[in-house]
Parts: sequence; structure tokens; C-alpha cells
Amino acid sequence: MDQQTITDAVRMRYSGIAAQLLADGAAERCCDGPCCCDADALEGDRISEGLYAEEEVEGLPLKVSLASLGCGNPTALAELAPGERVLDLGSGGGIDVLLSARRVGPTGIAYGVDMTDEMLTLARQNAAAAGVTNAIFLKGDIADIPLPDGSVDLIISNCVINLAAEKEVVLQEAFRVLRPGGRFAVSDIVIHGGLPAMIADEAAMRRDLSSWAGCIAGALSDSEFRDGLANAGFTDISLEITRRYSIDDMPTALPAAFAALSPAAAAEVVGRFAATFVRARKPV
Ligand SMILES: C[S@@+](CC[C@H](N)C(=O)[O-])C[C@H]1O[C@@H](n2cnc3c(N)ncnc32)[C@H](O)[C@@H]1O
Repeated sequence: MDQQTITDAVRMRYSGIAAQLLADGAAERCCDGPCCCDADALEGDRISEGLYAEEEVEGLPLKVSLASLGCGNPTALAELAPGERVLDLGSGGGIDVLLSARRVGPTGIAYGVDMTDEMLTLARQNAAAAGVTNAIFLKGDIADIPLPDGSVDLIISNCVINLAAEKEVVLQEAFRVLRPGGRFAVSDIVIHGGLPAMIADEAAMRRDLSSWAGCIAGALSDSEFRDGLANAGFTDISLEITRRYSIDDMPTALPAAFAALSPAAAAEVVGRFAATFVRARKPV
């Protein structure tokens, strides 16, 4: 499957979700898989549910929370200092950019990059409604980040690298735009231990576009993530599981390749997928 097909499927899914939110149709938004739902929109979905403390999102517009489609809370886990420049890869409705903008204060800047026009419109509306003036949303592909070399102190991202068609290039781009000594602090779904042999046709799983756009089929294994970061030049790489999933957390977007597995085997495979906080550093 070519990279353009994956990117188009991902763009279509997330532009559709953003368009629904822009039309104020939060209750009807697409919710057929992970990275697409929260508890307000679909009872029982646990991927994006409860990631942010109430006091954290206080003062942010409702649509920011509704548009939260991540699988972690990178801003809470990352160290952020006043005056720093932060970049969020795949910023969606902007929740992590707005939270970062607060943390870096008026002398800092929080950038968000997203490839979807509707998400960028939503994020800019959310920033204006929140009165945040140090957030800048840029249109672009995270495999070709529209910022100069060495221009940011910290890269965050929330459940987006698993959607990217060219993950190695994304990690190289992250390395390029970080200043020497800059940090990479990303939440993503990772397959710990990789896929077991019982997934007889891994290629079929990877071709499952709906599961890819739902953040499952495109997930890297822990060793692939480490290797990709190391190959890009990063050091001090660590992975920390922040939320494990069970089969009930992913009711409808399981890749078709899972269908042949017994319930016990499917549960074992799903148990390898976990929201993970990935840290690394660009050497000085
Ligand atoms: C799962 S949502 C996460 C949004 C946000 N990070 C959050 O936590 O709510 C994925 C977002 O990444 C964007 N995205 C996916 N692939 C991208 C790419 N290759 N380049 C830029 N944006 C991308 C989508 O448009 C969407 O807004």
C-alpha cells in the first residue's frame, strides 16, 4: 500500500471529525475506533478518556476537550519551562498546544502542525476562544515540518506518529527542528514485544486502512521506535507505558487480521498495544 493512500485515509478521517465539531455536531462525531473518541462522545471508549485533569483544562473551550483524540498527556509528562518553544506534531483541535502555551508563558511559543485544514480551523478557533496568543498553528505534514533547523526546544505529540506513513522521516524531521540538547516527549500507541507469530498475515493488518486511521495498524513496536529514534540521532531514549488496553477498549476498529484469532489469542495480542510515553534527546 502506498504512502499517499495511507495519508489520504488519515486526512479524510480527521478532517471529518473536525468538520463535525466545527458544525457543533459533537454528539454525532465519528466514533468507530480508538484515537477518535472520548467518554463524552461514546460511553465505554477508554483510549482518549480521562487523560486530562479537570483543573488542567479549566478555562479552555469545551470544543478543545471534545476534540481531544490522543492517547496520553504529553504536556503533563514533559518538563516545560517559561520562555521555551514547543512543537506539537499533529496538533488536532489544539489541546496540547494550548496547555503548552500556558506552561511556556508569554515569552514562549507553542506551535502546532497539522495537515488537515478543518483541524487547523478548529484549533485556531479554540485558541481565540481561550484567549491564548502565543500559540501558532501551521499547515503541514509532520514528515516535512514547516519550521527551520534547530528552532524548537521540545517536541510533543499525542497519538499521531502511529498514523504517519513515513515514520522514519518523521523522526528525522523531529531531530532536525530540535535545537541541540532539545527534547522529544511524545505519547503514542506502541506494540510492546511486537506482533506475535499468531498474526499470520501482518501485511494484511498493515493494509487495514480503517485500523490504521484508528491508530492501531500503524503502531510501531517498542524496538522499532527505539531504532527509529537512534537512527535519527537521538540519545537517552526511554519508553514508559502509561495505559494498557484490553479488547473491550477497542471494540470496533480491530484489524480484520485479528478476526481469525481465538478470543484468548486476540486478547493476548491487544494486550501488547499500550499508550506509551516516549522520551529522547538530541545530543548537544
Ligand atoms: C489522533 S488525532 C490527535 C490530535 C491531537 N494530537 C490530540 O491529542 O487531540 C491525529 C491528528 O494528527 C493529524 N495528522 C495525522 N497524520 C499527520 C501527518 N502526517 N502530518 C500532519 N498531521 C497529521 C490529523 O489531522 C489529526 O488532527
